[in-house]
Parts: sequence; structure tokens; C-alpha cells
Amino acid sequence: MLRRPRRLRTNKAIRNLVRETKLNVEDFIYPLFIVEGENIKREISSLPDVYHFSVDMLEDEIRELKELGIEHVILFGIPHDDEKDACATAGFDENGIIQRAIRKIKEIDREMNVITDVCMCEYTSHGHCGILDENGYVNNDKTLEYLAKIAVSHVKAGADMVAPSDMMDGRIKAIRQALDKENFEHIAIMSYSAKYASTFYGPFREAANSAPSFGDRKTYQMDPANSNEAIIESELDIEEGADILMVKPALSYLDIIRRTKDNFDLPLAAYNVSGEYAMLKSAVKNGILSEGAIYESVMSIKRAGADIIITYFAKELAKQIKNK
Ligand code: PBG
Repeated sequence: MLRRPRRLRTNKAIRNLVRETKLNVEDFIYPLFIVEGENIKREISSLPDVYHFSVDMLEDEIRELKELGIEHVILFGIPHDDEKDACATAGFDENGIIQRAIRKIKEIDREMNVITDVCMCEYTSHGHCGILDENGYVNNDKTLEYLAKIAVSHVKAGADMVAPSDMMDGRIKAIRQALDKENFEHIAIMSYSAKYASTFYGPFREAANSAPSFGDRKTYQMDPANSNEAIIESELDIEEGADILMVKPALSYLDIIRRTKDNFDLPLAAYNVSGEYAMLKSAVKNGILSEGAIYESVMSIKRAGADIIITYFAKELAKQIKNK
């Protein structure tokens, strides 16, 4: 036989040589959940092996990430319930939970790339990602002003990059203009450009205490049935000044990742979300799947076309990669 693909599978070295996709620790962004209080490092029940940290407890975690070679974190802040209000004031307070966490991380390690999730849902009393009209509809254009304030306050505190996850129309332009006005024209925006209204965010909402108190997010996040719409969203975000695109969730949206990659030349991130993590983690913990399933599934995200992967598996994958 002239063609025998098995020749290139005969031993490990050859397989390594012809491997088309490689996961690198540089690809990963690790999410961190920061809570008010002191001396807190508490495992999140919906996300095994992921913790809530108070600002004073971040040092060991940041050092561990550094040792593992993880250079990027994305921050989520969980304020006290009594700090929440209708317009997410705690989200742009210079002494807010995220702003303090950013300063602390930069104090621990200047080189850690600090990315912030820009959204209102963790800070609003109603849990929606924007300002509500009297009828409960999220008012797009009013929300833009607040998102811009939140982004600017993160960067003032020292964030290296902002990642708006709210899905309002025109938010990238509003944030870009606000950052430029404050002389932050060098700060990149990683846009959650195609973010679906997904049930896979369930464990996160428990962790971040950010579930909407009524209704759902379907009037702003995308319909899981749509693919063309993801292209439209990405196109608009590029026009408005996004530096990095994102597809979220990842595993049930590998087709969207591939289509986005084929259509646009910008770096592409994918968010391997909380539900995807919780599912696999539970299968591995219960002995239904072996650990290799984690590597394989995150690999599929990269193979589909993601350059950057936000994942709660970052630490364990970094260890697996080191030992390979
Ligand atoms: C904030 C936000 C959410 C996630 C990231 N940013 C939740 C949501 O939109 O309800 C989900 C992340 C995850 O599930 O891991 N809007």
C-alpha cells in the first residue's frame, strides 16, 4: 500500500512530531473569584477545586499560578449583598472589590496579566447585566455609560485588559472611547463577542451570586440556535475596536469557534465555562471518565480554532503539560 497513515503513529516520538495541535500553558487564562472579607479561601461548592478568595489571601494563589507558568487571570468580584443597587455603583467604586484585587495582584506580581470581566450582573440588586427600564427590559444605551465607567475604573486600578461580557449593542465602541479619553489607548479590549444565553453558566452564577432575580438573559445574550448571528456580532465588535474576539461557551459551540476563526484574523478566545468544568470534573471525580478527558476536551477547543482558552482547568492542565 502506498498510503498508510498508521506509519506516523508507530511510536510516541513520531506522534509528537506530527501532532497538529499543542496545548501550551501560555494559552490559558485562569478565572479568579474575589469576595469581601478577610482570611477567606473557600472552595466553591458548584466548582470543585475552585475557590473564593478574599483580597488578603491572593498571594499564595498568584505565586502558584506563576510557578505553573500561568500568566493571565480574569477577575470576577462578588460584593456584599448590601452594596448592590440598581445601577451597579459598587462596580465602579475605586475601592470596590475588583479594584482592590487588581491593586493587590499587581503588588504581588507586576507581570501577572490582569484581565477584568466588565459586566454589571454581580453588582446589580436585580442581577441583570444592565440598567432596567420600568418594564424590566434592559435599556441598552443607558447601560453603555455604566459599562464604560466600570472599564475605566478597572484600568485606573491597574488592569491590563478589559473583557466586556454584557452583550449590549455598541459596548465596545463606548468602552474604547471612554478608555481613549482617559489616555488608556494602549489598553486592549477582549470582547465576549459571541456570548450565548447558555444554561452552562449555572455553577458560575451560584459562585458569583449573579443569577437574575427575575426572567433570563435572552434579550441580550445570543440564541444557542444561531450561527450567522455570531459572525454579525464579531464583525460589529471588530468595527467598534475589539482587539480579541471570544466565543462562549466553548464545548457545545466548537462550530462557532471554527467559523469565527475562519472568518476573522483577530486572536480568538474561547471560554470553557463553569458548567463544562463542573460536568467533566464530576465525571472524573466519580471515576466515570479518566483525567485524560480533561486534556482531550480542552484540546478540542484549541483544535477548533481558539488561540486563547479561559478555563478553570488551567492549573491542572499546566501540571499535566509539565509532566508529559
Ligand atoms: C457575567 C459573566 C457570566 C460568565 C462570565 N461572565 C455569567 C452570565 O452571563 O450569566 C459565565 C462564566 C462561566 O459560566 O464560567 N455576565
